[in-house]
Amino acid sequence: VDSRQDFKVADLSLAEFGRKEITLAEHEMPGLMAIRKEYAATQPLKGARVTGSLHMTVQTAVLIETLVALGAQVRWASCNIFSTQDHAAAAIAVGPNGTPDNPQGVPVFAWKGETLEEYWWCTEQALTWPGTPTGGPNMILDDGGDATLLVHKGVEYEKDGKVPSPDTAESDEHRVILELLTRTVSETPQKWTQLASEIRGVTEETTTGVHRLYEMHREGTLLFPAINVNDAVTKSKFDNKYGCRHSLVDGINRATDTLIGGKTVVICGYGDVGKGCAESLRGQGARVIVTEIDPICALQAAMDGYQVTTLDEVIDKADIFVTTTGNKDIIMAADMAKMKHQAIVGNIGHFDNEIDMAGLAKVPGIVKDEVKPQVHTWTFPDGKKIIVLSEGRLLNLGNATGHPSFVMSNSFADQTLAQIELFTKPDEYPTDVYVLPKHLDEKVARLHLDALGVKLTTLRPEQADYIGVKVDGPFKPDHYRY
Ligand code: NAI
Repeated sequence: VDSRQDFKVADLSLAEFGRKEITLAEHEMPGLMAIRKEYAATQPLKGARVTGSLHMTVQTAVLIETLVALGAQVRWASCNIFSTQDHAAAAIAVGPNGTPDNPQGVPVFAWKGETLEEYWWCTEQALTWPGTPTGGPNMILDDGGDATLLVHKGVEYEKDGKVPSPDTAESDEHRVILELLTRTVSETPQKWTQLASEIRGVTEETTTGVHRLYEMHREGTLLFPAINVNDAVTKSKFDNKYGCRHSLVDGINRATDTLIGGKTVVICGYGDVGKGCAESLRGQGARVIVTEIDPICALQAAMDGYQVTTLDEVIDKADIFVTTTGNKDIIMAADMAKMKHQAIVGNIGHFDNEIDMAGLAKVPGIVKDEVKPQVHTWTFPDGKKIIVLSEGRLLNLGNATGHPSFVMSNSFADQTLAQIELFTKPDEYPTDVYVLPKHLDEKVARLHLDALGVKLTTLRPEQADYIGVKVDGPFKPDHYRY
């Protein structure tokens, strides 16, 4: 492989613009920049070959260059077909010292608007390390678990001796995965088994990917240790909440420019993401209604002042619907048929199965029309239209640019520290799913205080004794919920 050709992005000429935005983002990501400084000399990720599968945005570019600054080699793909920012991908491919004619950056395989085939091909490229002993990474940094899934499915089918026929696939995406694995297994019979053998671990970014990891661990199929980055407090209580509080309205505004104030909005799910979404829409003056299945979250929503009811009750009354559940089949085609004319429907959960897009496409006589990329109207036979954002995929990354840098500095500082943990202390992490140790979680928060002018109170030793903690923390027991 010619190393200069070892990437695929939309347009290298966007690299200069990407670099300018990366430079601005660095200032807004004090956690990552402090980690670069702290570990510059010791290079804890030297020898790490990190495959990343995470939205290829400007903020992710700062993460990638942090991993490189700590000694890692990196290959990258996005974890969603619409989430790549092409200028960020170009800047990463070119690198800080390269030019579009002489790219010297990181092998990145990502562009906005991939097909499903292209998406899984990119994931495969990020996992394929030419010229290395196993042909693969020794670390995975995942968001939603697709890179981890591909490795596990490959190993499973190689053990079985065959890949199930793509004709048996349950969905388009499943068919694409089966076709890819059929090809790789015929090209390189033990590709995935060999590749998995050297993987020290995976650090997983999001709620949905973490669910998959615990499931595999329960079933005894997890092949390597994992750190659940999502449940670091400085991740889920910040990115999922304050990040979505910022980027949900950004996505709705860029997609539709509809006035949110005064509108009736339904938020399905009141977990960390739902809480941020509800708050942001209320901030715009919307009347927010929440649906929940969990009595605790339903009660929280009620006490936060939202009406909590079922989707059925409000399906024909609301103007905007947002799914945030990480669950499937939340808004079905029959529901969308009952909505008001020009109701807006979008999802901010990780996968596109929250909204029944396949069912919508099958409604007899329905017509889909593209207003602009990632914004479509669907016209029912009676003339009623609804507006669907990002084809049901996460709208804050599809219609806008995802979370802003400052909040991602927390998530990605957690990611970086989790990579260092798993890579440098393999003996302390036998195969299981872990959360980041609390002292590291507190460290990440600490790294962000100065930038906001926060002055922290220091415990006096006798106070620390009285509440049973050390003066420097950790300050809370593991079961504390924040
Ligand atoms: P969570 O588990 O805290 O919240 C989900 C909530 O949905 C829960 O309270 C659950 O009870 C509720 N729920 C489940 N089924 C439901 C149903 N049928 N109807 C109504 N409510 C239902 O999860 P979290 O952290 O809020 O994440 C949600 C999703 O968003 C996940 O897929 C996660 O991966 C994704 N995510 C997306 C981000 C983005 O930038 N777009 C950022 C962070 C997470």
